[in-house]
Amino acid sequence: MNTMLNGLQPYPFEKLGILLNEVTPSRDYSAINLSIGEPRHPVAPWIRETMAQSLDGISRYPTTRGEASLRQAASRWLERRFDLIPGSVNPETQLLPVNGTREALYSIVHAITGPQDKGAVILMPNPFYQIYEGASIMAGATPIHVPATEANHFLPDYSALPPDILARTKLLFYCSPANPTGAITPEAELKKLLQLAETYDFVLAADECYSEIWYQQQPPGLLKVAQDLGRTGFERCLVFHSLSKRSNMPGARSGFVAGDAKILKPYFQLRTYTGCATPPFIQQAATAAWNDEAHVEENRIQYRQKLADALEILQPILPVQPPQAGFYLWLRVPRGGETFTRHLFHRYHVTVLPGAYLGRGEGVNNPGDPYIRIAMVQPRAENREGIRRIAAAVHDLG
Ligand SMILES: Cc1ncc(COP(=O)(O)O)c(C=O)c1O
Repeated sequence: MNTMLNGLQPYPFEKLGILLNEVTPSRDYSAINLSIGEPRHPVAPWIRETMAQSLDGISRYPTTRGEASLRQAASRWLERRFDLIPGSVNPETQLLPVNGTREALYSIVHAITGPQDKGAVILMPNPFYQIYEGASIMAGATPIHVPATEANHFLPDYSALPPDILARTKLLFYCSPANPTGAITPEAELKKLLQLAETYDFVLAADECYSEIWYQQQPPGLLKVAQDLGRTGFERCLVFHSLSKRSNMPGARSGFVAGDAKILKPYFQLRTYTGCATPPFIQQAATAAWNDEAHVEENRIQYRQKLADALEILQPILPVQPPQAGFYLWLRVPRGGETFTRHLFHRYHVTVLPGAYLGRGEGVNNPGDPYIRIAMVQPRAENREGIRRIAAAVHDLG
């Protein structure tokens, strides 16, 4: 067996399963699950119809590069959404479809670094999306977690890392809007990150899969910042976008990666080996989804209502830092995330995720330790009820 596998941590939900395994939930309440970031809003009926009407594609092998219509639709969407120069994202060389961004965030590391790069480092936030770490370990690189805390407005300070670490960095993952903190990395910060990547010659991988769920301010994107700085080839920049959250299609496994053609060319070659072409009927549905904004706005309205409900219930009883974007509430709770999660499940049959499971470091050194992550993915009434029970648990433990 590959002994590198021993370096992989159990996934957060495995840890949650262990935590709650011996805990009996109260019979007085129905179960409410706010732990997994799986959107529960219905998918638009016309997206389903497009998929159903495209089922003939099942008898063809799809290509790794994907259909031109999908790459066109995604490129034009990027240009519209992020105010890029029209025609500046070349769908032939600067964009590839992926089967959900998770697999792409994993495999991109293997295109950028490998066993020949002794001492290679991959930077990532803490707390973070665990795929970044697993990909780094399996590529033989060292993951370095940089804290995102209330004190730094949940924006890790990568430039404060020692120069010898930065000199060994091959890739920096950041997530904006961030899972789990909901922080948006502002344009000025993105500029600094790009300049840092240029100084130390590493790649920036921008996980932007939550960019379409926002509350007051539309999140900026890395490609726009690069273009404004005159990096017309998006040098060193890759952005990852997904239909999972934007269009409530997590089961379709559909997204794309776009940016620097010099990176995407060898990455494409790797992808032809890993066998991850997107099924034709998914490509058709994805093309339709990228071409429409009305369903995305409807989706945002639902999240805004749910966040407003949550703030109305929670703010009177404890300090809440509202997320700038995304559908998570990153809530500092009495007695720390694990104890709170156990109590909440036992007493009120609500499942959330202890923040520590999304971070690294023991005890107080884990920036997630005092928090829980609440995924506001359920329908409004259920979300409201779940939040009410969370408020009751705060009363119990506070
Ligand atoms: C931060 C982050 N990035 C990427 C993903 C992967 O999403 P998908 O593979 O569905 O595109 C998720 C999913 O929860 C996520 O939270």
